[in-house]
Amino acid sequence: MEVSILTLCYLFGSVTFIIGLKMLSNPATARNGNLLAAAGMAIAIVGTIFLYEEEGKKLGNYPWIFGGILVGGIIGTLSAKKVKMTAMPEMVSMFNGMGGACAALISTVEFDHIYQTYRAVETAWLSDFVQAGHYLTIIAGAIIGSVSFAGSMIAWGKLSGKIKDMSFRGQHIVNLLVLLLVLAAAVFTYQYNVGYAQLLFYVTVGLALIYGVLFVMPIGGADMPVVISLLNSFTGVAAACGGFLYNNKVMLTGGILVGAAGTLLTILMCKAMNRSLKNVLIGSFGGSTVAAGVKKDQGSFKEITLSDTAVVMSYASKVLIVPGYGLAVAQAQHACHELEKLLESKGVEVKYAIHPVAGRMPGHMNVLLAEADVNYDKLLEMEQANDEFPTTDIVLILGANDVVNPAAKTDPSSPIYGMPILDVELAKNVVVNKRSMKPGYAGIENDLFFQPKTSMLFGDAKKVLQDLIGEIKNL
Ligand code: TAP
Repeated sequence: MEVSILTLCYLFGSVTFIIGLKMLSNPATARNGNLLAAAGMAIAIVGTIFLYEEEGKKLGNYPWIFGGILVGGIIGTLSAKKVKMTAMPEMVSMFNGMGGACAALISTVEFDHIYQTYRAVETAWLSDFVQAGHYLTIIAGAIIGSVSFAGSMIAWGKLSGKIKDMSFRGQHIVNLLVLLLVLAAAVFTYQYNVGYAQLLFYVTVGLALIYGVLFVMPIGGADMPVVISLLNSFTGVAAACGGFLYNNKVMLTGGILVGAAGTLLTILMCKAMNRSLKNVLIGSFGGSTVAAGVKKDQGSFKEITLSDTAVVMSYASKVLIVPGYGLAVAQAQHACHELEKLLESKGVEVKYAIHPVAGRMPGHMNVLLAEADVNYDKLLEMEQANDEFPTTDIVLILGANDVVNPAAKTDPSSPIYGMPILDVELAKNVVVNKRSMKPGYAGIENDLFFQPKTSMLFGDAKKVLQDLIGEIKNL
């Protein structure tokens, strides 16, 4: 009877996880989706703690289990409450690393069980006692979990500015060699004298940790979200290995879903940037070579004053705002929402055009604008926005650059060629706010800034928006 209740708990956990994941795809339902999935998981965990039985014995160890949950829960809650929106990627990275470490520890504990059982038979090989499939599950969880843990910690350090990018000549060859050593150590652990198995297992884990560090170390800071998403999928796969080991269905489902979601997100981000994963992992996009290679004489650009911008915007009938990374840096989302409300009070229709990789993490702009209480209905996805630009009087670009660069459509030699972009040049007028003529993340110049319909409004996004609001109020 109890087992069937536990199975129901697992089923409930798996279903709520799937529904929760689906609800995360819309900002309006995301918060509840997160709560639903967490509630389902909590039921599955509590069910396991109290209902799971092996050979008539319950789990026990309750002080340890609840002590761990309490300490982890307090740390998690406090850090999630404290974190700033712009520091979200590093927090995700840290949590993901913890998941990887858990998966690696599960494999370590399971390996130790096997080792303690067979260590006395020193002349035999581990493969004489343990089935290949079982060993593979253990070692895969240990390796993938360790890579994910070490890689995520480096990603966290880089995103929080504690660790600098580090690369050296031939790094990719060294990485490949370390990876081969990991695999060789894993094979020897299984196909060698069982007396050495534990040592070899720890060597495998140690090498996997080194590989995780080396793998993430050279990747440019702004590419980190793609890498975090990839590491996230690694953690999912490692957790699924744990699910296999314990024949725990909810862990298996959860692991597979996280693994699949992480992989899909990685692919989608790469597609939205028009880059291959290989290029993200070993490429130099955003590096100085790109910037230097495409510098050309673009002609002159025209500037617009705050008061002129205030006038044209107040008398427009439709305005589309394009938020970008600079808006997030300036923390100008609240000022932006205020401008939107002010213009609407003057009868101007205002919407936002959201590019899928605007900013530095998936959904960055949606989250940022949601924080400022911008209505979700006002957020247009790229395709919808592109249909609306031709009927738009003014496009106000706030700290966005690459996602509005027409070179993606017109210049086959451009590193962003093929990346889908917002067709802002189809609008009647374009006002670009940024601090200088410096390039964005891809390190390339933007022809848009030199086109006749474009006017530059220089300054920090927050300050400019606050001043603009003041000007419009004074009209
Ligand atoms: P970017 O192309 O990076 O342009 C941002 C612009 O904001 C810069 O040109 C900068 O110009 C300006 N800026 C910076 N601080 C500012 C401030 N305080 N006030 C006003 N402007 C400021 O950003 P984007 O258009 O959002 O494009 C995103 C880029 O990141 C894409 O290349 C994308 O592929 C990449 N990327 C995105 C993701 C995800 S998932 N979102 C992940 C990895 C990479 P100034 O210095 O002149 O002010």
